[in-house]
Amino acid sequence: MASQELIKKLEETIENFPDFPIPGIQFKDISPIFLDPKLYEEVIADLVAFSKGKVDAVCGIESRGYLFGIAIAVALEVPFILVRKKGKLPPPVVSEKYDLEYGSAEIETREGQIKKGQRILIHDDLLATGGTTEATAKLVEKQGATVAQFSFLTALKGLNGDEKLKKFNAEIYHILE
Ligand code: PRP
Ligand code: MG
Repeated sequence: MASQELIKKLEETIENFPDFPIPGIQFKDISPIFLDPKLYEEVIADLVAFSKGKVDAVCGIESRGYLFGIAIAVALEVPFILVRKKGKLPPPVVSEKYDLEYGSAEIETREGQIKKGQRILIHDDLLATGGTTEATAKLVEKQGATVAQFSFLTALKGLNGDEKLKKFNAEIYHILE
């Protein structure tokens, strides 16, 4: 969907750091996008075009998922829901636990912010193993809503995050492969 020009610009702008924060992991730094407001606008326009008319609300994943997710939701004129790490939101909350390589993590939304029957876009900056996004999708479904779409700026090759998300039968889009 994205133009070759946008893909090229993003590839040049997102910086790759091998073996950060730990050996074997490649860190993708999206922060240079925010130095270029025109590029930021183009990224938002592309992600908005993917979701236009298809979702009733956007769930953004803490913290980098907020940087684009709110702008997408505002442009689509739909609610934005914060998916936060455990212990940051006042009760009552709805939670989902998931496994990390070492140990586990938990994410939460405020109870009642996701409405039954809503078609939800789950947005994050990056798809790696898919663990965080899969947990978010479960959190959406257990509140009676449907995951209609997933969107990301980019995905880490070789980790097959897409595979983990297939069971939700939602559209999956990352601007960069
Ligand atoms: C990164 C990234 C995604 C997640 C992807 O977030 O922004 O949210 O990891 O990993 P996964 O597909 O293996 O679950 P991070 O936990 O580094 O936190 P941040 O967004 O707050 O920087
Ligand atoms: Mg993140």
